[in-house]
Amino acid sequence: MFKITFQDSAETFEVPAGTSFLEFCQAHDVPQAFGCTAGNCGVCCCRLIEGAENVNEMTDQERETIELQGGGEDVRLACQLIIQGDIVVQAVDL
Ligand code: FES
Repeated sequence: MFKITFQDSAETFEVPAGTSFLEFCQAHDVPQAFGCTAGNCGVCCCRLIEGAENVNEMTDQERETIELQGGGEDVRLACQLIIQGDIVVQAVDL
């Protein structure tokens, strides 16, 4: 199990390896906007504050979607973010 910490609330949850961040949010009633769940719409942007080494690499599709939304280097798509270690996240509204 790994830890997800929400920067704004400092709440921490345990999550099994390989869970997507969006799956985690849906399972725990964490408010996280989403749409397509496939990395295309960009509605689910979140900011990865810590733990970039503990998640999957960004695909070209995810990078393109984030760029279209005007997201920066630390922005990821919740539906594409796979948890592989401890992370700290923050919701963003681009
Ligand atoms: S829900 Fe559409 S990109 Fe994540």
